Amino acid sequence: MQIFIDSADAKELAALAGSGLVDGVTTNPSLVAKAGGDFFETLKAICAAVPGPVSAEVVAQDAEGMIAEGRKLRQTAENIVVKLPLTPEGLKACKALTAEGCPTNVTLCFSAMQALLAAKAGATYISPFLGRLDDIGADGMELIREIRAIYDNYGFDTQILAASIRSGAHVRDAALAGADCATLPPAVFKSLYKHALTDSGLEAFLKDWKATGQSIL
Ligand code: E4P
Repeated sequence: MQIFIDSADAKELAALAGSGLVDGVTTNPSLVAKAGGDFFETLKAICAAVPGPVSAEVVAQDAEGMIAEGRKLRQTAENIVVKLPLTPEGLKACKALTAEGCPTNVTLCFSAMQALLAAKAGATYISPFLGRLDDIGADGMELIREIRAIYDNYGFDTQILAASIRSGAHVRDAALAGADCATLPPAVFKSLYKHALTDSGLEAFLKDWKATGQSIL
């Protein structure tokens, strides 16, 4: 499964990219507002720091406006993916941009039927929002399973990008459900390395090695 980071903080993204495990980035208008600074400068810095796909979201409401914004966003860097809302106008824009060879990420997906429409519009990625579904008492992970089954039934190559991830358990379950990618807040990404037995095991190994009085180099 590809790991994307859900952030618009260019410095933090550059640091995380140093792990060698980050395949891409997703941003949204709220994350851009939180990070502050000039939008296009931030996008350029992120695209330079992370060689994989970087989703940048349009804010126009009509297809024509979204297409114009998408074309401009694409000029920022080669690895920009245009992020579009799952609305009738968003899917019209998705179809038009896809026809131009522009990669797209259809966002704010909360149902399998929405995901089916996005695939028919040619979306490169579909972003089902797990955490926000769980927040209202629905089962976010069931949505991933449904989309996986539908896409496999019909051979759609739209990639499932599990979004609104809140925990390591979400990452594990999305991987088990067959999501192609997951976009993780930085804190969730860092938490994936952690296990108490790794820490205590390493401490014991180092203590025992020190007692031998030897060195490897
Ligand atoms: C995905 O592309 C979104 O930016 C993101 O995952 C939304 O997550 P949230 O529900 O934590 O805001």
